[in-house]
This record gives sequence, C-alpha cells and structure tokens, in this order.
Amino acid sequence: MNYRHAFHAGNHADVLKHVVLLAMVESLKRKSAPFFALDTHAGRGRYLLQGEHSDKTGEARAGIFRLMVLGKLPPPVQRYLKAVQADNPVGALVAYPGSPMLLAQAMRPVDRLVACELQPDEARALEALFRHDARVATQARDGYAAVKALLPPKEKRGLVLIDPPYEAQEQEFPRILAALADGLQRWPTGSYAVWYPIKQRVTLQHFMRKLAALPCKSVLRAELLVRADDSPLRLNGSGMVVLNPPYKLDQELAGALPVLARLLADGDAAESRLDWLRREGE
Ligand SMILES: C[S@@+](CC[C@H](N)C(=O)[O-])C[C@H]1O[C@@H](n2cnc3c(N)ncnc32)[C@H](O)[C@@H]1O
Repeated sequence: MNYRHAFHAGNHADVLKHVVLLAMVESLKRKSAPFFALDTHAGRGRYLLQGEHSDKTGEARAGIFRLMVLGKLPPPVQRYLKAVQADNPVGALVAYPGSPMLLAQAMRPVDRLVACELQPDEARALEALFRHDARVATQARDGYAAVKALLPPKEKRGLVLIDPPYEAQEQEFPRILAALADGLQRWPTGSYAVWYPIKQRVTLQHFMRKLAALPCKSVLRAELLVRADDSPLRLNGSGMVVLNPPYKLDQELAGALPVLARLLADGDAAESRLDWLRREGE
C-alpha cells in the first residue's frame, strides 16, 4: 500500500466526490429519522494543503483553490465550500477535510458514522481526529470486510462510501462489485456511492455494465472530466456511481456539474455527465 491521499487532497476528483457526498447527506437529513454512514476507505480525515505532499503535486491548486475565491455558485457547490471553510476557521485555506470529516460535520447528533482505514499511520491519525466524537467510530481494518461485518446497521436509512485507492485498477473492480452485492443483500435500503478514476474511458465499460446489473432500485452516474478521457497516464476525471440514490440527488447535481467542469477545466475537452445506468422500474 503506497497510496497517500495527502498528495491528492482537494484535487478535482475530491471536489466531485465531496460535492456528491454532501448532497447525499443533505437529502438524508430531510427526514428526522437517524441515518448511518459507513466510509470504507476513509483516509486520515484531514490533510494539510501547504504541506510537502500537497505542494509537490499542486493538485489542490487546480481543484479546491480555484473554487474557493468564487461567489454565486450552485447550492451543492456552495454547501461543499462552506464545509471546507468550516475546517479553516482562521480564514486562509490550510487544511482540507476528507470524507469522514465532511460526513461528521454534516451529521446531526442522532446520526452515526463508522470510518475504516487500513494503512496504519493513516488509521492512527483518523482515530485521533475523532477520539472525542461519540457519533464516530474509527476502525483500522479492511473496508471491504467491514461491509460484511457492519451491515445491516440498526438504522434503516444511510449511505456507504467506497473510495479505494485503485493502485491496481483491474483488481479493485471485482472487490467493489462483490462488496456492493453483499451490502445490497444485507442492507437493501442503503445508498451506496462508489468513486472511480477516469483515465481511458474504454477500461471502465465492463465495470459500468456490472454496476448497472446489481440488484438495487436505480443507479445514477455523475462524472467530471477536466480533460479528454483518452490518455492512460493522467487522472483526466472521475466519477461517482450511486446505487439507490437519495431522493432528487440527480436534480441537485444537474446544475452543479457543468459549472464544476467549466471552472476546473484543463483545456477545451472538459465536460460533465449525469445519467442513469438504470432507472427504477426498468
Ligand atoms: C482515496 S483514499 C480515501 C480518501 C477519503 N475517502 C476522502 O475522500 O477523504 C483511499 C484510502 O484507502 C486506504 N486503503 C487502502 N486499502 C484499503 C482497504 N482495503 N480498506 C480500508 N482502507 C484502505 C488507503 O490507505 C487510503 O487512505
């Protein structure tokens, strides 16, 4: 395991992932009943944006830093920027909140989060971050195994975020699909969000077909490309597939994704995509 998210925190892929994640939480909060969240690959929870890792790649400068200075953005983007700002109380952007931090910030006192992380240093940092938050449990374990061990929760509603490092892309896909099939069987009422990198489109086709065939009500896909998806060498964009998306998630995201594509573009080929891999009843 060589992957360290600190090199990538706040890049265009994090922007997409976290905008979608917070839109899902917002929808869950429309009902008063508590929800449960499982973050299978949580990372360390907070990243320094001026540390040696972030400076080395400069990825955040082409991501969160481009958005932070702008006003009048669509509500899902504003909500995300507000959440990032909340983690930087002094003003200047020095820290970037990872998915468990964003989830914890957005959750109510009645909601619960379990965040799993396998890499020991990252897991220790994660544990320290949430030591005093009774709503959050951190576990230094394999996130895929956690799906089996922790689902179904006592809550009926909630979400699972699967955000693996894709160090070997072809090996990650079958593990994700197996975890989703297992999760859906154990907790059919949950929403499941899977982040995936886009380098060359063609390598994703089989995975998309398999996702669309999983036994759930519906499958929504949201993508953000900052460049053309035809080079295997760079992260040209990324996507989130959401199984059993919360009510009106598609409408929430429809106005936000094209704006993100325009603002985070690296050339003329930037674009966004929002479509159903499968709709309810089909
Ligand atoms: C893309 S990062 C997660 C970023 C985080 N979800 C966020 O949005 O802020 C993937 C993380 O998964 C961890 N990891 C790798 N394999 C894992 C596994 N089998 N189970 C749990 N965590 C794993 C890596 O150490 C890394 O911190």
